[in-house]
Amino acid sequence: MNKKNSNSGIYRNLPSYGDPEFSRYLRRAFLASAGFDARDVDRPIVGIADTSSDFNPCHRGMGELAEAVKRGVFEAGGLPLVFPALSLNEIFIHPTTMLYRNLLAMATEEMIRAQPMDAVVLLGGCDKTVPGQLMAAASADVPALCVVTGPMRTGSWRGERLGACTDCRRLWARHRAGELDAEELREIEQALCPTAGTCMVMGTASTMACVTEALGMMLPGGATAPSGSGDRLRHAAQSGRRAVELAAGEMRPSRVLTREAFRNALVVLAAVSGSTNAVIHLTAIARRAGVGLTLEDFHEVASRVPLLVDCKPAGSGYLEDLHAAGGVPVLLKALEPLLHLSVVGVSGCTLGELVFGAASPGPWQQTIRPLSEPLGPAGSLATLRGSLAPEGAVIKVAAATRALLEHRGPAVVFESPEDVACRIDDPGLNVTPDSVLVLRHAGPVAAGMPEAGYIPIPRRLAQAGVRDLVRVSDARMSGTAFGTVVLHCSPEAAIGGPLALVRDGDLLELSVSGRRIDLRVAEAELARRRVAWRPPPQPSRGWPRLQARHVLQAHLGADLDFL
Ligand code: FES
Repeated sequence: MNKKNSNSGIYRNLPSYGDPEFSRYLRRAFLASAGFDARDVDRPIVGIADTSSDFNPCHRGMGELAEAVKRGVFEAGGLPLVFPALSLNEIFIHPTTMLYRNLLAMATEEMIRAQPMDAVVLLGGCDKTVPGQLMAAASADVPALCVVTGPMRTGSWRGERLGACTDCRRLWARHRAGELDAEELREIEQALCPTAGTCMVMGTASTMACVTEALGMMLPGGATAPSGSGDRLRHAAQSGRRAVELAAGEMRPSRVLTREAFRNALVVLAAVSGSTNAVIHLTAIARRAGVGLTLEDFHEVASRVPLLVDCKPAGSGYLEDLHAAGGVPVLLKALEPLLHLSVVGVSGCTLGELVFGAASPGPWQQTIRPLSEPLGPAGSLATLRGSLAPEGAVIKVAAATRALLEHRGPAVVFESPEDVACRIDDPGLNVTPDSVLVLRHAGPVAAGMPEAGYIPIPRRLAQAGVRDLVRVSDARMSGTAFGTVVLHCSPEAAIGGPLALVRDGDLLELSVSGRRIDLRVAEAELARRRVAWRPPPQPSRGWPRLQARHVLQAHLGADLDFL
């Protein structure tokens, strides 16, 4: 079919020269320079958002992945066109990738809208890329599906199986406690990340991959296949073929991202005991999709869904084990009674049809448990309120110390992540195992919300065998971390939230059973402190300034208020 005068394919979104026919003629001329003839340019266009970067080792297998998607697109009669997108790697971005998630979402949305594409395949992986791409897809509402790089394989050190980054943290804590020397740590460095791919525990990248599949924005089986594996590459080619079919239909993100689909994603989030970062990301994606998802939704679902998946940090296994056990399709089969089965995802099938065709958890494996034999109780995630977090806070109960879930202790206050770095190991720091470490000015406005909520145990206490303390902040925490850590206190200190009023020695009280985090200081004294409070300075220019002026609080997903 000749599409010369239509508004699809390469003729979508023409540049405004005031003469559409001239714009079409120029498009054909420039595509001819790239080697495409009339037969090529009549095909549906599938854009491929490529987040590869030399600064992103988690995505270093993306070239091969993009080639597999392109092959699938060509096989199905489409024309694949790869375009670069912002790439964010957790380890290489200062001060935090979260500061740039919204920039990635905005840039990706604009490129989907501005360039001619009938469908888009979003290649992501490392923590913020997938949520940013889903936010973009929800807003652009062009047929879209996600493909991730997939997790790394596990490493090995002196007979011990290792994975980034739960084991990174555990072994670093042992080094801080004097149990591992510098030479041993150097050997461990070489073993923690042995292949391309994302962190191979149930951190944020793996969590977001699993919930994306559960949302229906990824073809079945795509969340867990290891990076570079045949399963991964076949999934990519299938996704390319499916994108061409989507280009011809009306299966847009707005039809996939329903309230029921989000509730299914929350069921999976709870069953894998996923990253607390998913709370913020799913809230932001839902907001873009016009679905009201609140902290109560997360708490309510988590309170009735048990832990079924044995992956670190809540369990002992790794993502390659989850994949070998059947991945998300088998997990969804196990969760069938708890799911909305009528939703339709990018596969075009209802979830009920997909689950009908999936296997139950096999008796030969222990990674995916049936509902009748869960690995852990329901309630792996709790959302809290209280005088310290009137709009809410989050705690990953499954990663916490049971004895600290009900705790009262004196505050030790840090003014910023930099202050933590300066003073946490100060021998004069007045801290005991009963103390509650408080970090402020690490929220969305103050600092872009870094993963600083996992405040290290002061060296003096670590060397005495203390492995956990109650920690409270307006920051986030890596999905690979563990401990009794209250996160995302909202509103944050930088806009005058109650965290700003805490002083050293104030009594703080955590009650997970009561869903409370409270500051036990008399109201008259708090009123005095409130009068004396002054907001911290904001960034002076550029993206950090725009973000600080417009970012929403954590309980609203930390998106920008104008998106
Ligand atoms: Fe990229 Fe963990 S650092 S997924």
